[in-house]
Amino acid sequence: MSKKDIGIIGMGVMGRSIARNMGSNGIELALFNRYIENDEVRVAQKVIAQYEELRNASGFEDLKAFVADLKRPRKILLMINAGTPVDDIIQQLTPLLEPGDVVMDGGNSYYKDTKARVQQLCSYEMHYLGIGISGGESGALKGPSIMPGGTKIAFDLVRPYLEKIAAKDHLGGICCTYIGSDASGHFVKMIHNGIEYAEMQLLAEVYGILKNVGKFTHPKIGQILHEWLKTDADSYLLYITANILQERVQGKPILNTILDVAGNKGTGSWSTQAACEYGIPATMLSAALFARYTSSFYEDRLRAAQYLEIESISKPKLSLDDLYHAYRSARIINHHQGFHLIAKASEDQNWNVDLSELARIWTNGCIIRSRLMEKISTEIDRLDQILLLPAFYKQVQASLGQMKKISTVIVNTSVSAPCFLNALDFAKAYSQKRSTAHIIQAQRDYFGAHRYKKKDDPDGPSHHHLWKAP
Ligand code: 6PG
Repeated sequence: MSKKDIGIIGMGVMGRSIARNMGSNGIELALFNRYIENDEVRVAQKVIAQYEELRNASGFEDLKAFVADLKRPRKILLMINAGTPVDDIIQQLTPLLEPGDVVMDGGNSYYKDTKARVQQLCSYEMHYLGIGISGGESGALKGPSIMPGGTKIAFDLVRPYLEKIAAKDHLGGICCTYIGSDASGHFVKMIHNGIEYAEMQLLAEVYGILKNVGKFTHPKIGQILHEWLKTDADSYLLYITANILQERVQGKPILNTILDVAGNKGTGSWSTQAACEYGIPATMLSAALFARYTSSFYEDRLRAAQYLEIESISKPKLSLDDLYHAYRSARIINHHQGFHLIAKASEDQNWNVDLSELARIWTNGCIIRSRLMEKISTEIDRLDQILLLPAFYKQVQASLGQMKKISTVIVNTSVSAPCFLNALDFAKAYSQKRSTAHIIQAQRDYFGAHRYKKKDDPDGPSHHHLWKAP
């Protein structure tokens, strides 16, 4: 049998879905899964037997035989859990590889780990690509959005294969593009997930407002969201949320059976850390992360509920139109913050990420695909800030009154909606002619002689004032 184009390591849900996608696109595959006695036995072989599109693939649990089955330069895609498993497999794999071979990591690895691994493999004259893949199981199977980062030479070697399996945008363009060097692919995937966290949280807040203030039933909320899908608020996450609200088990809304504690696998926390490291106010994605953390203190919440009874100040008036417009603008602000963070990291790391092209490959296949993303891809230039573009600030400007009304509803009731409140506050803070930061500067100078710049001489020297003694 002829040698194979691509080797895939890891036959979990994502690994086998990518394999099936590649198989149905005529890519010759070698598949590997580890062997664990009584637990993971002949997994790759079983996957091959299960799916017709993998009939030409070969399956292994011996790494040496797997590597020997690949065409040179070898191209191996890791679809395994992020963290130590990736380092372990690299350690086992590299003695079996040769200079020029390419290892790709298709998981949600932390970008700093990826940066170190790129350097490690480079020292063996091998290539390492950190590839962000978004779209969940069905995306992996039918066409994900693919974000490869690493050397351009390595990308060109695997490009035809990645392009074959990627989603297509509405003009038929391929949702896979070279992002930049070293860890750029995994960085943008991480921020994709940060944006995803805030998009999900905003929808949870919309639900909370409609249920607790509007007193709408689950199916009715689903119906309202289905109406929003007919507008430019359309997105994949809105679609699944509308469906979730109408899903029933034994005649009752499924949502009533799901514990209200949100999980996470780390990318939201890494995005928040990155926002701090690069000094970018990504307030919405961090608020969404902390909302998940707060939800996880389940027992504490139940105890606190006995003491902190938060009642509505007055009967709040909720307008669906206000909520809709506030939601659309909050999403713009969320995307502004995420893209700003990517732009800053790209500048600091010399990745030269093209924001327009990035938005384009996020218009299909990925979890945050939406009509808004399509608009961003056409409006944004390589390094623009979304809120400085007329197409977006005009919309936010026009809805400020509605954002305030919804914030008033939130403040006056027991509904917790940190992303909506953050969005309005960010719009204010970002657009204020004179902030209150001069107070901070004076305080810093008072107690710590940290010095301040003068308003009428911002580029001039810094000053220290002799303040009244404490
Ligand atoms: C995607 C998703 C995917 C995964 C997240 C979930 O783009 O396909 O983002 O990567 O669903 O990792 O993350 P949490 O478990 O942290 O919510």
